[in-house]
Amino acid sequence: MFQRIMAGFERIVILTGAGISAESGIDTFRAAGGLWEQHWVEDIATPEGFARDPDLVLGFYDMRRAALARAAPNPAHEALALLEREFSGDLLLVTQNVDDLHERGGSAQVLHMHGELKSALCTSCETRVRWDAPMLAKDGDRPPCPACCAVGLRPDVVWFGEMPYEMDRIYGALQTCDLFVSIGTSGVVYPAAGFVEEVRAAGAWCLELNLDPSDGLRCFHESRLGPASILVSQWIDEVLAH
Ligand code: APR
Repeated sequence: MFQRIMAGFERIVILTGAGISAESGIDTFRAAGGLWEQHWVEDIATPEGFARDPDLVLGFYDMRRAALARAAPNPAHEALALLEREFSGDLLLVTQNVDDLHERGGSAQVLHMHGELKSALCTSCETRVRWDAPMLAKDGDRPPCPACCAVGLRPDVVWFGEMPYEMDRIYGALQTCDLFVSIGTSGVVYPAAGFVEEVRAAGAWCLELNLDPSDGLRCFHESRLGPASILVSQWIDEVLAH
């Protein structure tokens, strides 16, 4: 692995995954005891699962939304917000996470490629609305869409088999960035897992900050292992020192 001075970069793309929210108490997906060990993905994270048993899916996301309400941003989220304020170049923060901890940590520009827990999508009129309440009442009732009144709201979260959001904008940034930083992701779910190969081929410097080596380890010029709350702050201090 090489190490290079974190200076001279003008266009940074950052990709975050569940690992950046782990120290805020939010379950990751593939760690021991993670979300995908507690639930069958096919049942709660696919359109087919939602069609089969909408109440099971709505209950799962209500549980995740309630857990998020008890969580707080950690120093990694706050450090990225500092970078957004202080970095004079172009910065795009892309997250696979559906939590709002980047925003609550102070980031103003966050691209949620997998959607958001605090957004609801109407399956009838395709309206998106900010949503903070449960989607499944205790008596099983489901709230109507505020726009068309149909009872068809679903979590505005990208499920397996669905197209992530704003991919054109993301690929445009990947083609022109000079630094790509991947934080807290296992690098196993595409298209996000393929971003590092895109940027490496386009000539950007690729840095990984992760607790464990990710699947894309060999594509990174540099990989730093450890908790995001420490690594992210250290890295941003290096970038802003120049
Ligand atoms: N600091 C840094 N990295 C951490 C920390 C931490 N404190 N804790 C865990 N990690 C790392 C793990 O080493 C792992 O590589 O975060 C990664 C979490 O991996 P996953 O659980 O697979 O989560 P993620 O990569 O975000 O999953 C991608 O898969 O299921 C879909 O849509 C879901 O967005 C999700 C996508």
